[in-house]
Amino acid sequence: MGLSLRCSDSRTTALDVVVRADGIAAVADMPECSVHCILSDIPYGIGIDRWDVLHENTNSAFLGTSPAQARAGSVFRRRGKPLNGWSAADRRIPLEYQKWCESFACHWLRVLKPGGSALVFAGRRLSHRCVVALEDAGFTFKDSLAWLRGFAPHRAQRLSAVFQRRGDHANAAKWAGWRVGNLRPIYEPILWFTKPYPIGTTIADNVLAHGVGAYNETRLVGYEGDQDNVLRAGFGPSEGKHHLAQKPLRLLCALIELATTEGQTVLDPFCGSGSTLVAARRLGRHYIGFDLDELAVASAKRRLSSEEAEWLDDEPNLFTMLRDRKPSDPP
Ligand SMILES: C[S@@+](CC[C@H](N)C(=O)[O-])C[C@H]1O[C@@H](n2cnc3c(N)ncnc32)[C@H](O)[C@@H]1O
Repeated sequence: MGLSLRCSDSRTTALDVVVRADGIAAVADMPECSVHCILSDIPYGIGIDRWDVLHENTNSAFLGTSPAQARAGSVFRRRGKPLNGWSAADRRIPLEYQKWCESFACHWLRVLKPGGSALVFAGRRLSHRCVVALEDAGFTFKDSLAWLRGFAPHRAQRLSAVFQRRGDHANAAKWAGWRVGNLRPIYEPILWFTKPYPIGTTIADNVLAHGVGAYNETRLVGYEGDQDNVLRAGFGPSEGKHHLAQKPLRLLCALIELATTEGQTVLDPFCGSGSTLVAARRLGRHYIGFDLDELAVASAKRRLSSEEAEWLDDEPNLFTMLRDRKPSDPP
């Protein structure tokens, strides 16, 4: 029988599992104060795939179904139409995203231990709505970290090219050097929230009572070389492509070590291919992951079982490495 946790209410949750389930309903069913950290790359609500459409807008340009997107080829096939605020329905998308975040924020607050961190990857365009939803639920919004992705395609259209196509050479010359769209999207925000600890206690008391509330500067410096709130950890050469929105293991390891210690529990309610869970497992943390998508869950299970095979093969080595590693060692 696997491990499970039981906390201040009578519910129990299995540990070290990845389950195909609605991550909102599943977390609503978890015991109070049962996890030390929530680390999740939540849907950004920008329509990069079906699971990322979180609004009622039936505008046909979403998911690449407009004639223009069909012509544009694979690059744009999954992308929503640009933000033009054309219709009232378009303008409601941010608020609908906030409502979606509100639907899980109170459950996240309940299942976290006092002082525990919720670290959330959220898109630049709608992350402020996530901040409002979690803040209104009772979280403290501590910081917005920046993850520098290293590479990002720049898709802003040249204005001069538009005029050129129209045969308007005068305006093509006048507007040379101007673009329509955004700057190169080289960073992604990682929102850092904490669950407030009880009034009348101190953070040091809270660390003693619940094991969370402070952050591990030494380990962060080991990954990043400094204690700045800009992170640069990227993909390793053999990480493979498991998910459209996959995040690097080294980055997830840095975040897990920032906020938790060995033996604590990390929850990812939107775990995709299980990157957070693999990172947690490598670091000797318990993990709980949910995802609605069957293929994503299968991929997470595969990744976790190959970790397990590696672990069993090299057991003495891995244990010794965990015990003896220096702050500057990679995860
Ligand atoms: C941004 S992706 C996570 C990718 C992940 N970081 C990785 O490295 O594989 C978000 C995931 O949330 C899942 N998802 C969306 N809504 C969900 C829900 N209500 N419950 C559980 N999973 C959901 C999607 O299927 C998708 O895999």
